[in-house]
Amino acid sequence: MLLKGILFDLDGVITDTADYHLKAWQHLANSCHLTIDATLAPQLKGVSRIDAFKLILAHNHSRDRFSQTQIKQLCDDKNDYYKSLIRNMTQDNILPGIPEFLISCQKHKIKMAITSASFNAPQLLNSIGLTHYFDHIVDPATLVRGKPDPDIFLKGAHALGLLPSECIGIEDALAGIRAINAAGSYSVGIGDQHTLSEAKLVLPTTAALSLTLFT
Ligand code: BG6
Ligand code: MG
Repeated sequence: MLLKGILFDLDGVITDTADYHLKAWQHLANSCHLTIDATLAPQLKGVSRIDAFKLILAHNHSRDRFSQTQIKQLCDDKNDYYKSLIRNMTQDNILPGIPEFLISCQKHKIKMAITSASFNAPQLLNSIGLTHYFDHIVDPATLVRGKPDPDIFLKGAHALGLLPSECIGIEDALAGIRAINAAGSYSVGIGDQHTLSEAKLVLPTTAALSLTLFT
């Protein structure tokens, strides 16, 4: 494959915010007497806010406990808490090796897009000073379906003017790896080999990212 573009997840790939999302879900779950155990926690990664909350409700056999209006309010509450956690984000929250990797990609004229389910992505990227590296940020509001559906990666490749097969996607969540594979891009997982075994390549941390792996 001649690599022309990279589709980046944000939370857990560029920044250390995956744990902040979980912390905010835990906070909400506690207030509603719902539990999030070690099996459920990784399943919340990568999926949209509303889909994550529906997973929490299903896991607690509470699918019908709240009305649509209440679900919307509770998701807003989770987001308010999450935003309070990321209010003081700085460049210190960028994961290891990411700045060097972005600089190297830019030098080699590789196009880059953010393919994150998060509505907070533009603001977060601004806070950590990385916005200028990216040619496009896919707006999650435009998605028909969230990860693991390929929609977000198809839109990311299209926005870069590339075929999905000319891009790699980088993800820390299984839902994201499945979405990349379904889009027809080369999937790179960051994290645990066992959890992300469906990825074409798994790296233990972002510090191992290097263009030499893909060229
Ligand atoms: C993903 C996170 O990047 O964004 C998920 O991995 C989160 O945990 C999703 O649910 C949506 O984010 P937000 O910020 O719009 O609630
Ligand atoms: Mg992620």
